[in-house]
Amino acid sequence: MRKPIIAGNWKMHKTLKESEELVNLLKRQLYDMEDIDIVICPPFTQLAYIADMLEDSNIDLGAQDMHWEEEGAYTGEVSARMLKDASCKYVIIGHSERRQFFGETNKTVNKKVFTALKNDLTPIVCVGESLAQREKGLTFEIVREHLDEGLKNLNGDEAEKIIIAYEPVWAIGSGKVASSEQAQEVHRYIRDWLSKNYGLTLAQEVRIQYGGSVKPDNIAGLIAQEDIDGALVGGASLDADSFSAIVRGSKKG
Ligand code: PGA
Repeated sequence: MRKPIIAGNWKMHKTLKESEELVNLLKRQLYDMEDIDIVICPPFTQLAYIADMLEDSNIDLGAQDMHWEEEGAYTGEVSARMLKDASCKYVIIGHSERRQFFGETNKTVNKKVFTALKNDLTPIVCVGESLAQREKGLTFEIVREHLDEGLKNLNGDEAEKIIIAYEPVWAIGSGKVASSEQAQEVHRYIRDWLSKNYGLTLAQEVRIQYGGSVKPDNIAGLIAQEDIDGALVGGASLDADSFSAIVRGSKKG
């Protein structure tokens, strides 16, 4: 059985002091959650500090992005080794906001996935269509392209280590959650893609998160779906009560 995984993507929010408050509350509210992997992804500047706070907890640390090169003259960038050094276990790769505003492509996603794995980080690889693409009936085509190109040349040993996040762009930060059925349909498609490329056993092992306006009141319907193994949460992860409620609501029934 796949263990549900809930990750909070804080995006460009919170000062160190605000983060400290949130982490203290989360630790208190979630200390007894054992059957769910819990991850928070704060901004880079806070990773090492928060890592210390999480040392004795059941919450893991992730980053929101990284560069694909091991090191070098890349002003402003952060490497996988630096993330590892800051005690990150996960890294989000190919988030739609990176694609939309910072020139992320399937090609750079692919390079980053390899570098993350090489450095023993678990990549959370984001895929998903825009509203215009959905309306044109291109959802599966776009998701397939993201998978074909973003995961290109990954062998089975590598593919089994990743997490995929299906995030329809039109549902991110918009309050418009995909219906559980709409999400399940694409999650199934992703699992079928994994099965075709890597076999059924591996496909059954890889966790696929849903992301896009996940809130305490819609997590139950999403997690009840056969192929939804958790959530990548933006806005609702900035508040301890709502993130904790989402984590508590994500036990597979
Ligand atoms: P949201 O963001 O929950 O605020 O819609 C999700 C994400 O971008 O990962």
